[in-house]
Amino acid sequence: LIHRFEPGFEAGRPPLLLLHGTGGDEADLLPLGRSVAPGAALLSPRGAVLENGMPRFFRRLADGVFDEADVRARAQELADFIAAARSTYGLAAPVALGFSNGANIAAALLLLRPEALAGAVLLRPMRPLADPPEAELSGKAVLMLSGAADPIVPAQNARALAGLLEAAGARVEHTVLPTGHGLTQTDVALAKGWLARQE
Ligand code: MLT
Repeated sequence: LIHRFEPGFEAGRPPLLLLHGTGGDEADLLPLGRSVAPGAALLSPRGAVLENGMPRFFRRLADGVFDEADVRARAQELADFIAAARSTYGLAAPVALGFSNGANIAAALLLLRPEALAGAVLLRPMRPLADPPEAELSGKAVLMLSGAADPIVPAQNARALAGLLEAAGARVEHTVLPTGHGLTQTDVALAKGWLARQE
């Protein structure tokens, strides 16, 4: 996959895997990654699917209706990319930091290829699969930040994702902020504080 990599300079910080939203690219989340995890290595792939010219991490049939066969195939492709990048750059398992479509593919990675990630920060995620396999996520921590007024993600859909991850053994912290689909300074502050507590 096309990607950007920035080496870390603080030993002991897990690398961050940055996963952009629809229409973003590999440069998009580098400033966010730097601000929430100063000194961490940053690995930032570009989604390989194009929707009207906008990069994404998997195909959708309509807003909020996912092509689940593509979700599964793209999650495998992304997990293989992560494994290859870890050996090229000498990285530990990364913590994903994904926004919107990027959060959704990170959730799919957790459910389908749990070994790919050490944990995840999911910003405005949805449940990516109606019928995911049983994953083993004990020992992994996940922060989910949702928006109470998010027009794209129904509140009960985000709660269902939190429930799925918890049932698989993940330690999930799910906070619903009084905002919409876009990110706020509160997201940045909460993500930064949570990441600092994981080390
Ligand atoms: C998705 O397609 O993954 C979600 O609808 C979020 C988005 O990218 O708008």
